[in-house]
Amino acid sequence: MTLIPITKMNVGHIDDVQEIRKIQNNTVPDRFVRDVDEIKSLIPDSSVDNVPIIDLSKVINGNYDEILTLAYACEEWGFFQVINHGIDVRVLETIEKTAMEFFMQPLEEKQKYKMAPGTVQGYGQAFVFSEQQKLDWCNMFALGIQPNFIRNPNLWPTKPLNFSESIETYTKEIRKLCEKLMRCIAMSLGLRAERFKEMFGEAVQAIRMNYYPPCPRPDLVLGLSPHSDGSALTILQQNQGSSVGLQVLKDNKWVSIQPIPNALVVNVGDTLEVLTNGKYKSVEHRAVTNMVKDRLSIVTFYAPSYEVELEPMSEFVNDTNPTKFRKYIHGDYSKHYVTNKLQGKKTLEFVKLQTNIAV
Ligand code: OGA
Ligand code: NI
Repeated sequence: MTLIPITKMNVGHIDDVQEIRKIQNNTVPDRFVRDVDEIKSLIPDSSVDNVPIIDLSKVINGNYDEILTLAYACEEWGFFQVINHGIDVRVLETIEKTAMEFFMQPLEEKQKYKMAPGTVQGYGQAFVFSEQQKLDWCNMFALGIQPNFIRNPNLWPTKPLNFSESIETYTKEIRKLCEKLMRCIAMSLGLRAERFKEMFGEAVQAIRMNYYPPCPRPDLVLGLSPHSDGSALTILQQNQGSSVGLQVLKDNKWVSIQPIPNALVVNVGDTLEVLTNGKYKSVEHRAVTNMVKDRLSIVTFYAPSYEVELEPMSEFVNDTNPTKFRKYIHGDYSKHYVTNKLQGKKTLEFVKLQTNIAV
């Protein structure tokens, strides 16, 4: 009888980045190493630029300059940081602590909530569809929140003990903020404040927690591949004192978003780009890693109800700016988004109309 000795552990099959770090401290597996062009884009750019900062209390009080800054942020950056957003700092701190406690648990505990193939909720790497695809240096945990039917109660962790309660409190507050922001954005476009609310029906809300452990080779890997968000609006909270990680593509350069204590990062998603016929931009972004610091982000996606039919609003379509997108059902877009890998702004091509070449 011959025994086949197990000579070495096959790390090639491990794709959980926290586990990889326990096994190999100085290198990264090949599947994480990016192609040459992408590696070049990881060389830090010394020029500094900052995404606009919006004081929400001013916008709500009708401060005209602040509304103009909001419009500028959505048109030119697709991103801004919001301060005086009205959410109690304790709510932000609690969700951050809870999320960290979740990620710090042993793998077996987290795998009780493993993301099933072909789904997007639970613990695991979403958007991976082939063995060849490069992997992101990130562990993710995602949950559908609203409407109720998208919830999968089996995926709600029982540990840490206050997990569900923190999520409920946080997501209620963030939903109110999303509603406020949609009213402000409508105003900044010269529309009636309730316009989006009326259009969206019972909005879909999902949450994703992204944990980026320190990475021995930040010069070779990405925390999260470049993409635009398939939502109408995204709200991102990053942990206090975290390193920079989130980068936004501005004038073909990757600009880092500097964390501001208690501020939230907001970005325009694909839905708003379509509805405004390209006036407000759903901008490509990515996350990079850090050699010594870990990083946590808690991301909320807010989108129209699945059955809603979308197309550019008539206010933004005219002879000089003809319609750029076809009519579609948001649920079809959402399905297309989650069944394709993250690849810049490629998803939007699903609904883009061919532009006529001028003769
Ligand atoms: C996202 C995202 C960036 C980050 O989850 O869609 O863009 O910094 N995250 O985690
Ligand atoms: Ni994103």
